[in-house]
Formats: sequence, structure tokens, C-alpha cells
Amino acid sequence: MNRNSYTRIVVAATVPVKNQSELRERYIELLKRTLTMILWDAADGRLHDPSGAQRPELRIEGRDWPALSHTMIGLKRMDNLQYCVEDVLANGVPGDFIETGVWRGGACVFMRGILEAYGVTDRTVWVADSFEGLPAPDPAKYPADDGDILHTYDALAVTMETVKETFRRYNLLDTQVKMLPGWFKDTLPSAPIEKLAIVRLDGDMYESTMNGLQHLYPKLSVGGYLIVDDYALPACRQAVHDYRDRYGIVDPIEVIDFYGAFWKKVDTVQNDDSRRYAELSQNYAVLYQDHARVLECQQEAERELADLRGQRDTAATELADLRVRHDTAATELADLRVRHDTAATELADLRRRYAEHAEELERIRSSRAHSGAAGLSRVYQALTRAGRSSSR
Ligand SMILES: C[S@@+](CC[C@H](N)C(=O)[O-])C[C@H]1O[C@@H](n2cnc3c(N)ncnc32)[C@H](O)[C@@H]1O
Repeated sequence: MNRNSYTRIVVAATVPVKNQSELRERYIELLKRTLTMILWDAADGRLHDPSGAQRPELRIEGRDWPALSHTMIGLKRMDNLQYCVEDVLANGVPGDFIETGVWRGGACVFMRGILEAYGVTDRTVWVADSFEGLPAPDPAKYPADDGDILHTYDALAVTMETVKETFRRYNLLDTQVKMLPGWFKDTLPSAPIEKLAIVRLDGDMYESTMNGLQHLYPKLSVGGYLIVDDYALPACRQAVHDYRDRYGIVDPIEVIDFYGAFWKKVDTVQNDDSRRYAELSQNYAVLYQDHARVLECQQEAERELADLRGQRDTAATELADLRVRHDTAATELADLRVRHDTAATELADLRRRYAEHAEELERIRSSRAHSGAAGLSRVYQALTRAGRSSSR
């Protein structure tokens, strides 16, 4: 082989074992921060925010639709995914991993990356999506989805090739990644999956959540995890509760963050205590997320109030400015009025004097005319007399 001076040298054998686990941790952390764009302080902005304002706190909680990030689920739910994956690996819980509803694929890339970091070669990451967005609601069958508009968002439709390309960019596209393209109702019932250790549901709607539970939960190993990304959404939550009630699932639900919740599938003996405990955990999860929403509303209201106060202060400053300008204008107007009155008086005086002068002029003219005519007549009479005496 033609080795250049810069050819990479494999040094793994010389890395001390204790540092290997540290390197693994660092790789997983870096992967997570890259996939969520937290590494860049979430500086990719949001798809639906024309102002392009960056809100890293939204990225941490996965409450935005990020412009560039490879996953929308945020740091907390990525932490939860890591926890679940590492737990099933540590405890040898058998089965593959699946996410139903992958968008750009970041959460699946993360699961594959963790397998890579631990050198696990006998588990597959299943990537299930229509790759064309969400289905139109079917209210006759799933009334909870009535009026859902998520299917109208083009931003939620990411092609399979784009998702594969994302895997490729992280050098993680291989035979341990399998695509399940199509609507869940069509792909999940016949998916060639034997056993699962992680089921991550992220299809938002009642139908999508229920399809995932119906066809995948029976394949989930005891000790494995069921993660519901959209537990805070009423339709999704209802699907979870309907399914759990129908099959008497009493494993306690734990809240992850504003949106997500999960539970570990435990071979629980159903007695009154476990049922009561499940009920309490479920109520707690609902209350927690409702409380988070109320807090959010309160914060939003406080932000709006601060904004309104700012607007009020600006308006008050403008008003004060306008008052000063109004007072200045009023003073100028009063001054103008005085000058106008003075000018009017002067004008009237001038007119009066003009009239007097005109009158006087007229008088002079007529008196001159009168005395001129009398003079002429006297001259005429003298001449007439002189003419008469010379002819005699
Ligand atoms: C909120 S996004 C998923 C976010 C993703 N887990 C991530 O890490 O960013 C929802 C995804 O679910 C898919 N989806 C929802 N319901 C579906 C269904 N019934 N069948 C197939 N795909 C569905 C959509 O195409 C979309 O990609």
C-alpha cells in the first residue's frame, strides 16, 4: 500500500483500556451535541420563525422545528434515549431498536452510533417512516385525530434518501440499519422484526401512536423501553392510555421533559397496589406536563406583559415629546396671531391714511380745476374785450 506521510495510523491497541470508555463517552456526547446542533448553541434557528431568532432553551427541550438540526427531539430526550439504550445493553435485554417517525433521522443515527461505540454488531436499528410526512386524519376510525393538520406541513416530509445521507455523513449507514418505508398501518404489522429492546414512538397522532403500540409493544422484551415522544399531545396521550387500559399495562410512566414520557416494560404482577401505582404515575406524568404548559403560558404572558410595558413606555415618551412640540407650536401660533393682529391694525391704519390722502388729493384736484377754469374764463373775457376795442 502506498503510505503517505499523512496516512492515519491505527493506535487503538496502544490506548489504555480505561481511556477507551472515556473516549466512548466523549464520542456519544459529541454525536448527541452534533445531531441536535447544541454544539453550535442551536444556532440554526427555527423553521417557522421568520425572525431567525435562536432559542437554545427550545433546542434543549426539543420544542422547536429546527432549521438544520438532524433531529428535532432536543437534548433531554436524546439523554433519555441514551439512558434507555445503555441500560438495555448493560442488562442484556434482547432485541433491536426502532423509531416510528424519524423525520431527518437523527435519533436513529444516535442509536446506531451508540451501538457502534459499544461494538455491538447483533442488533439492528429500524427506521420506520412514510418519508412523506404524516397521514391525513381518519376521524371515522380515530376520532382523536379529527382536525389534525400536521399532514399539511411539507417540513415534516423528509425523503428516505435524505435520511440515508444523514447516516452516511456520520459514517453509520450499514447493514445494522434497516428502512421501513410506508405508512405504519401498512409496514408495522408485517415488519420482519423478531424482538425489540427499544421502541421509540414519534408519530404525533393517535393513529400513528396506536399503530406503533399495537404492532410493536408485543415484541418488546421485558426490561426494554417504550418511549413516547409526544405524550404531551392530547391525541397521542389518549392512544397511550387507551392501549395501556386495554392491555392492563401498569408499568409506571416517567416524564422526560415538556413533551416526552417513557416506561420500562416490567413483568408486573397486576394487583391493586401496582394498578394504583400505575394510575398515580400516569396522573403525575399528565400533571407534570400540564404544569409545564401552564408555566410556559405564564412565561409567555410575562414576556408579552414586558413587551406591552415597553410599548407603553415608548408611547409615553412619544406622547411627552408630542406635548412639548404641541406647546411649542401653540406658543408660535400665539406669537403669529399677535404679529398678525399688529399687521392688520397697521394695514387698517395705512388704508385709512390712504383714503384720507386720496380724499385730499381729490379735493386739491377739483379746487385746482375750479380755479384754473375761472382763470381761463377771466383771460378769455380780457382777450375778447381787447379784440373788440382794436377792431373799433
Ligand atoms: C415529529 S416527526 C419525528 C421527529 C424525529 N423523531 C426526530 O428525531 O426529529 C414525525 C415523523 O413521523 C412520520 N409519521 C407520522 N405518522 C406516520 C405514519 N402513520 N406513518 C408513517 N410515518 C408517519 C412523519 O413522516 C415524520 O417524519
